[in-house]
Amino acid sequence: MEAKPIATPTGLHNVPASPEADDSVLKIYGRASLSGHVSISGAKNSALVVMAGALLCSQQCRIRNIPSLVDVERMGEVLLALGMKISRDGNTLDIDASTIRHTKAPYELVSRLRASFFVIGPLLARMGVARVPLPGGCAIGARPVELHVRGLQAMGADVHIDHGTVHAYIPGSRRRLQGAHIYLDYPSVGATETLMMAATLADGETIIENAAQEPEVVDLANFCRAMGARIRGAGTNTITIAGVPSLHSTDYGIIPDRIEAGTFLVAGAITRSEISLSPIIPEHLTAVIAKLREAGGDIVEEGPNRVRFIPGDTIRPINIQTGPFPGFPTDMQAQFMALMSLCDGNSLITETVFENRLRHVAELNRMGADIRMNGTCAIVKGVSGLSGAPVLATDLRASAALVLAGLAAQGTTVIQGLHHLDRGYENLEAKLRGLGANLSRVTAAEAGTTPLAAEVSL
Ligand code: EPZ
Repeated sequence: MEAKPIATPTGLHNVPASPEADDSVLKIYGRASLSGHVSISGAKNSALVVMAGALLCSQQCRIRNIPSLVDVERMGEVLLALGMKISRDGNTLDIDASTIRHTKAPYELVSRLRASFFVIGPLLARMGVARVPLPGGCAIGARPVELHVRGLQAMGADVHIDHGTVHAYIPGSRRRLQGAHIYLDYPSVGATETLMMAATLADGETIIENAAQEPEVVDLANFCRAMGARIRGAGTNTITIAGVPSLHSTDYGIIPDRIEAGTFLVAGAITRSEISLSPIIPEHLTAVIAKLREAGGDIVEEGPNRVRFIPGDTIRPINIQTGPFPGFPTDMQAQFMALMSLCDGNSLITETVFENRLRHVAELNRMGADIRMNGTCAIVKGVSGLSGAPVLATDLRASAALVLAGLAAQGTTVIQGLHHLDRGYENLEAKLRGLGANLSRVTAAEAGTTPLAAEVSL
C-alpha cells in the first residue's frame, strides 16, 4: 500500500471524518458470551507523545504500531500545521521534521486535542521559541499545566501566558535550554514527558525528581534514546538526561496499549468469558491483573506477550484507589466500576488522580447499578444484573465502561457520544464482534432513540 498523507479525515481507516458531528450510536445486545483471541493495538498515550517527540529530530523518523485513532489524526494535524511532513502506511508513520516552518500551534487544533500541548517541549528545545495555546480543561478535570511551565522556566526559558497561549522562548544568542535539577510536585505524566524531551537538547544535565513512571514515559525515553538522546532512569522516580547537540533519525515501534488490554480483560471478567489477548506486556498491568485476580478471575501467560483471561465463579468485591504508576491506573477506573456493579458484595472505588472522573456513575445507575458517590469515592453495591438502556458517554474511558456494561446487561443498550470512544479505541466494535459480541454502529433513528442532552467535552 502506498504511503498516504495523514490528517485527511479519511486518512485513517474506521475513523469518522468529523467525530463530533457523527450522530451514530452503538447498539449492544447484552448477555454476551465471548471467546477467542483479540489483538491489542499500539498505545494511544505513547503514540501521541512519540509523534510530538519527532519534532526533536531534524531528519525523518519512522514510527510503527501507531493505532488508527481520532486523537492520532488530530496530533498529525498539529504537526502538519507546524510544517512537518507526515505520511502513513497502515500503522506506520514517516514523520519528517527537517522543515519546521511555524512555532505557533493553532488554537483550533490544540483545543480539539489536549495532548497536542506536548509539542511545547520539543518545539522550544529545537527552535528556541514555542507558542502553544493552553489546552484547557476537559470532562475529567481542569488539567492545569503549571508543572510543565515551571520546569521549562527552570531550564532557562522565558515562559509567560498571554491571552490563553503559553509563550515560551530561550533568551540569549545560544537559544539552548540549560540543564536543571527539577522536582515535580506531582508525578505528572505530561510534565515528565515535556521536560524529558526538552532536556534532550539542553546544555548540560537535567535531573527530574518525583518523575512519572508510566510505561508510556519509558516508551518515549526509549524512542528518544533511539534518536541518540542520553537518558537514564526512565521508569523510576528520578530521570537524568544529558543534553546532546542534535538527534538523528530512527525506526521505532511503540508498545501495545495497556489500557486497551485492561479493557478487554474486564470484558472477559464482566461477561464471565475466557479470552486471550496479544500483544500484551504483563508488567505494564501489574495492578490491574492483581485486582482482577482479587475479584476472582485469573490471568495466565500463554506465550511471549500473550495472556488468557479465565473468569471465576463469581465477581468478588474489591476496593480500588487510583494513583500514579505502579499504582492502579486512573484510566481503568471506569471499566472496573462497571465490573464491580455486578460483584457479590460492596466495593469502594476512590479516584485520586482527576477531580471529576466519576461521571459514568449516573449512566451505570441508569442501567440498574447501585452506586453512591461521596466526593471522589464511589460505594458500589453489587446487583444481580444490569439492564440495557439508552446511555450517554461523557469521556473516553466512561464510554468504554458503558460498552462493558452493555455486554453484560439484560436487553439492549444504546450508547450515544461515540466520538469519545473513537478517540482512544481502534476498531473496538470489530474486535468485540470478533470475540462473539453482538453490537453495531447505527444512526440514532435506526436505533429508535432520541438524542440525549448534548455534552460538549474535549
Ligand atoms: C496522561 O494525562 C494521559 N494522557 C491520561 O490518559 C492519563 O489519565 C494521565 O496521564 C494519568 O496517567 C496522555 O498521555 C495523552 P498528568 P496527563 O499530568 O499527562 C495534575 C486517557 O484516558 N497536573 O499525569 O494530562 C492533573 O490535573 C487519558 O487515555 C497538575 O496539577 O496527566 C491531574 O490531576 C486521560 N499540573 C494529575 O496531575 C500539571 O502541570 C495527573 O495529570 C500537570 C498535571
